[in-house]
Amino acid sequence: MTSQTIQAVRGMNDILPDEAELWEEFDQVARDWLRAYGYRPMRMPLVEPTPLFARAIGAVTDIVEKEMYSFIDALNGEALTLRPEGTASCARAVLQHSLLHAGPQRLWYAGPMFRHERPQKGRYRQFHQFGVEAFGYAGPDIDAEQIVMCARLWEDLGLSGIRLEINSLGSAEERQRHRAELIAYFERHHAALDADAQRRLHANPLRILDSKNPHMQDLIEGAPRLMDFLGADSLDHFKGVQTLLGEAGIPYRINPRLVRGLDYYNLTVFEWITDQLGAQGTVCAGGRYDGLLGQLGGKPAPACGFAVGVERLIALLKETFGDEPARSTAPDVYVAHQGELAARTAFRVADMLREAGCDVLLHCGGGSFKSQMKRADASGALLAVIIGDEEAREDSASLKPLREDAPQRRVPLDALAGEVGDYLFGDEQEREGQ
Ligand code: HAM
Repeated sequence: MTSQTIQAVRGMNDILPDEAELWEEFDQVARDWLRAYGYRPMRMPLVEPTPLFARAIGAVTDIVEKEMYSFIDALNGEALTLRPEGTASCARAVLQHSLLHAGPQRLWYAGPMFRHERPQKGRYRQFHQFGVEAFGYAGPDIDAEQIVMCARLWEDLGLSGIRLEINSLGSAEERQRHRAELIAYFERHHAALDADAQRRLHANPLRILDSKNPHMQDLIEGAPRLMDFLGADSLDHFKGVQTLLGEAGIPYRINPRLVRGLDYYNLTVFEWITDQLGAQGTVCAGGRYDGLLGQLGGKPAPACGFAVGVERLIALLKETFGDEPARSTAPDVYVAHQGELAARTAFRVADMLREAGCDVLLHCGGGSFKSQMKRADASGALLAVIIGDEEAREDSASLKPLREDAPQRRVPLDALAGEVGDYLFGDEQEREGQ
């Protein structure tokens, strides 16, 4: 009987080294970018109490109705959910630890999120976000700063052609009045609604505007617009954001149909979209959510944030630059050895060189010097350190440049780190010394 190999869960991907190196580069750029804007890191659990998401995201949303990985903890009967997004968890943590006592907070987090969606290109069941949340800031400046901040990330990554759409969802009261009109409008066209829309008509009509059903697009196009229900304060806030974006030279389009798939938003919402990835082109999305902390039982405080979809951004990077990581991940030195004493010496030498600041690949697994040198060459290392019995007995090693036609030479071990350093970093050290 043959047993089948086990495969990963559908929609949950392994990220193999070639691609993971690209992810690491992206992480590095993102961390520097976040620091430049004064955001501080947060790490929240992957699992949260299920009611957190119903309360934060909204009970009548795709995520909460049909996409959450929820389960009962068999040991204590607690209802738990793998987080489908990070804003709810971050807000919970801010309240739980009273972070706002110390003043407003700019926070970020990164990691996997889980949604039981239909997997396709750019849409997965485990995906990753870089999330950015600012708590305690009421003015339009932080909304604009976050949007400008995204533009800077695209620039730092060398990406272009990501367009910005913005909208304002107004206040809860304004949405309430719009909602009544919306229900009346959709009731007049009840027969044209699909089953989802009919079910949501009274529970959450705004979600109908988010429908992807092509047969309902004309109907949605003609629906009453929230923008026409906004009062002076909401319009002022929206104008404030637009003025700052204009001054920063960021082009945008106001999309009155941009409502977002989560219920916690008010006022500014935005999405960054590329046409280069097919249907799943939104690489980043967010907005203001001034009601969330209060809704979670805490002292109300304004808040605004967004999340970048890492898989989509990596796909865009690959689309733009090809598969190759920009930074070489080759080691500096490959250590080859043969014989028992040489093996022990090589082990010691490799660590000594790392201590001196080199990236070192120690050959493991035996084999002739010839085959080891082939590996050394394939590794991309600049130098090979070769240790045979003779070298080991004499406390020395042979040094061979791999990327130029230069002779191999014997170096005493106590001079090795210095010689290797001179070879690898000589120019750099000279420059620094000048
Ligand atoms: P979201 O629009 O649900 O918002 O997700 C943000 C981004 O995550 C999307 O624009 C997309 O790039 C990526 N994303 C979402 N679902 C998937 C998926 N199934 N597969 C791959 N990528 C996906 C939020 O999650 C909010 N928490 C954003 C936010 C933060 N709002 C305020 N603060």
